[in-house]
Amino acid sequence: MALTTVILAAGQGKRMNSDLPKVLQPLAGRSILSHILATTSNLGSQAINIVYGHGGELVQREFEHFSVDWTLQAEQLGTGHALKQALPSIPEDHEILVLYGDVPLVTEKTLNKLLSAAKGGVALLTAELGSAKGYGRVLRDKKNNVVAIVEEKDTTPEQSKIKEINTGLMVFPGKAIRGWIEAISSDNQQQEFYLTDVIALAVAEGVPVTGVLVDNADDIVGINNREQLASAERILQKRYAREVMDQGATLADPNRFDLRGSLKVGRDVFIDVNAVFLGNVELGSGVRIGPNAIISNCKLGDHSVVHEHCVIDGVVTGENCEIGPFARLRPGTQFDSQVKVGNFVEVKASTVISGAKMNHLSYVGDTQVGKGVNIGAGTITCNYDGASKHKTIIGDRVFVGSGAMLVAPLNIGNDATIAAGSTITKNVPEKTLSVARGKQSVIKGWKRPKK
Ligand code: UD1
Ligand code: CA
Repeated sequence: MALTTVILAAGQGKRMNSDLPKVLQPLAGRSILSHILATTSNLGSQAINIVYGHGGELVQREFEHFSVDWTLQAEQLGTGHALKQALPSIPEDHEILVLYGDVPLVTEKTLNKLLSAAKGGVALLTAELGSAKGYGRVLRDKKNNVVAIVEEKDTTPEQSKIKEINTGLMVFPGKAIRGWIEAISSDNQQQEFYLTDVIALAVAEGVPVTGVLVDNADDIVGINNREQLASAERILQKRYAREVMDQGATLADPNRFDLRGSLKVGRDVFIDVNAVFLGNVELGSGVRIGPNAIISNCKLGDHSVVHEHCVIDGVVTGENCEIGPFARLRPGTQFDSQVKVGNFVEVKASTVISGAKMNHLSYVGDTQVGKGVNIGAGTITCNYDGASKHKTIIGDRVFVGSGAMLVAPLNIGNDATIAAGSTITKNVPEKTLSVARGKQSVIKGWKRPKK
């Protein structure tokens, strides 16, 4: 049967106390709604219809590149009212899968299970939770058939003890739902048109309603407040951590692992605690990531090591590189193999050929560093004249003494030596020594000033 998926996402999310519409709150670095859309787009539905309202323009802008239909729910009068707004644009012979914009962790597998349970009738995804607080309860008769859903605020004390809850995810026959939606009222505690009231109406008409119990209750957590946002974040991060471990990485602690994007790892990777991965990251086999590393959009070659407290963004390295501790590598940086960057070194938009070392306290920007170069502590490439950036080219096997200022544009020939403390402003021919510093004066018998 043809399928339309409707995602209800018009609510404000009052309980978040936020200026941002709830469905745009970040979960693993991207909006809550984007997770649902990603899952939905694999279901093979003919159309995806998002019901939007609160913060509408922001929500639409975020997804302008997706091929989805938009339904405006100008006033948020409840989930039943929300679905009603979308119905006119859905063909009557379509089955309708309703998803809630604030239930983002549901998996494709679960949705497929729900869809196959409907068989032309109604299917409803339920869960058994340790604490059912905040959810609608599922009422079953003596034969264990679903008969109704009661919102928590409308439950009797007896009903509030029920542990089986409504996840909000349902499948409806496209024709019958139109009648039921017309028949619901807002005569309840919250004076809203509840979509959940449709269940009792379907049962009254003798339409089969199948309750499908979710295998893993973690998959259906709803996000209404920031505490639930945080627990959804951890559930998702643990899922990601498992995937990374399956690929061949050891995580020092899966509870202290954060991925906001995608991470591909080779075999025998080790990731220490509190590493954060952003964007697209690839780690070769045998790579080791120290604690508190922040790694964005990088590709690190086999057996490279990132020591603790490094911030690395937009970097590609070859094999066996060693970075940090306390290094900052910025976008456009490319290392060959066996490059070493030590503590308090910043490298930006530079190419470094194999075996080069810069072990301490340096800034290297817009630079090409040759093979086997040694850059002494405290070296700075002065790449900016206040108006433009200039390039520094350092040939193979150059030795730069400590505390050198290399004023760009500058070209240093192969095998040249730069004396410590020099300020180099002119090109350096190969195999030469350049000294550019004041001569030392020695004053004999010098007396220190007294206090
Ligand atoms: C809803 C269910 C409850 C279920 C829970 C699961 C109803 C009446 N209750 O409660 O049984 O246990 O979800 O998480 O459906 N929305 C609109 N327009 C509106 C109102 C809501 O689009 O007028 C959207 C919201 O943006 C949200 C979703 O519908 O994405 C659910 O609304 P919410 O107010 O969070 O419902 P709950 O109280 O959580
Ligand atoms: Ca909710």
